[in-house]
Amino acid sequence: MIIKASDGREFPVEMHKTRMLQNITLIPAQERLKAIGEAGYNTFQLKTKDIFLDMLTDSGTNAMSDNQFGAFMTADDAYAGSMTFYDFADAVKDVMGYKYTMNVHQGRAAEHLLAKTFVKEGQVVPTNYHFTTTKVHIELHGAQILELYYDEALETKSTNPFKGCMDPQKLRDVIKKYGKENVAYVRMEATTNLLGGQPFSMANLKEIIKISKDAGLLTVLDGSLLCENAYLIMQREEGYKNKTVAEIVKEMCALFDIFYMSGRKNTCVRGGCIATNNKELFDLITPWLPVYEGFYTYGGMSQREVGMMAVGMREMVDPSVAGCAIEQVKYFANRLEDEGIPVVTPPGGLACHVDAKKFAPHIPKEGYISGAVTAALYIASGVRSMERGTISMERNPDGSESYADLELTRIAIPRRVYTVSQIEYVVDRVNWLHKNRELIKGMKWVSEPPVLRFFVGRLDVLDNWAQDLCDAFKKDFGPSL
Ligand code: F0G
Repeated sequence: MIIKASDGREFPVEMHKTRMLQNITLIPAQERLKAIGEAGYNTFQLKTKDIFLDMLTDSGTNAMSDNQFGAFMTADDAYAGSMTFYDFADAVKDVMGYKYTMNVHQGRAAEHLLAKTFVKEGQVVPTNYHFTTTKVHIELHGAQILELYYDEALETKSTNPFKGCMDPQKLRDVIKKYGKENVAYVRMEATTNLLGGQPFSMANLKEIIKISKDAGLLTVLDGSLLCENAYLIMQREEGYKNKTVAEIVKEMCALFDIFYMSGRKNTCVRGGCIATNNKELFDLITPWLPVYEGFYTYGGMSQREVGMMAVGMREMVDPSVAGCAIEQVKYFANRLEDEGIPVVTPPGGLACHVDAKKFAPHIPKEGYISGAVTAALYIASGVRSMERGTISMERNPDGSESYADLELTRIAIPRRVYTVSQIEYVVDRVNWLHKNRELIKGMKWVSEPPVLRFFVGRLDVLDNWAQDLCDAFKKDFGPSL
């Protein structure tokens, strides 16, 4: 919740208290240098014992509520017919309005089943923006993902409140060019992850849905960050100021044929689901569920997590849950902007995104700019962030590099995990790094897997810059960590 101080400042205040904790440690800079070297300068490869603040992702790392832990204890472990699954299905119906639902083990499992059921070779899938795993699943089925964003979406410094919108004219053009029979479905991602957590507006969504329905096309919502998008609509869109997050979520969901989500974000639970009101569509997907995921009433999840997800689903529309990451991201981004650090604006959901191209303009794109800044931030702070740039892209079919539209260092805010003082620590270290940015040089591949290379790929730094950065840190901070 945002609190107004007596001097007019505004800051986020946590609407919860800590009742269980996990200790974390901050190892010295020299040890951080060793750890990131051993990790192939890839923050996914770090071990958590070497991490101070883990801001890699908000996926599966959010704090759960006391009621969710209660559901863990009371879950019904039955392989088939578990009442816990029916509790979950009720929560989906109550919160999102869908009659038919199935669990899957996480978001990408939903993407797999949807691609398997609805995507045919040679087809296209128009979307507001791709997500890494989404794109891979669609391409593995021989189709192509087409990103139909407005050009302004790629302007990291902006005042446009809805950079996650789809351009309706581009959608009409795609339908005309490819023919509706070649469009597998139209996919909207609620807050576009790789554009920096930017939302779409309800007005834009309604227009996109109308064009799709008029052409007889299926519509699919990736609602992994559904509540963040709804919260930002409530804050930013005319006509929604007096609506609740719960009402906006229902309104959005009612527009789509098929919904899916990674439950690891909004519901704070390691799982996912697919839901719809269309029984015929549902029946096309369900035969594959026991083949790839598990029986119909658990879909690859533990029943304990299904139970926690049912509670998480009801809690996620509470504005203090839906807005907790957004308000911290806003505070974080504003603080960095105050220090002259280039970040994605307006701040969106999930993370504060540093624009690495502007942060380190001297690094050529061939040097994997945001990969280098992300590794450097770890050395300077022990904070683990995520590369969201070219390393997160797949190579072109001919093997050439596919350079990302944006080079972002994503500093994620898991829900209800970190405090404002910890964010202040990150602000200070990002600021120090910015002042020493000339020391950061590029990186090169050491080993590169053929698919989703950002997870396990290994790189090396050019000209031993990591050591130079570590030396500069030790010179400025002395024995301090
Ligand atoms: N769709 C979106 C929009 C996502 O952000 C993610 C995951 C997925 C699908 C896949 O879901 O991980 O449960 O299989 N995003 C995570 C992240 C990994 O760190 O942003 P999953």
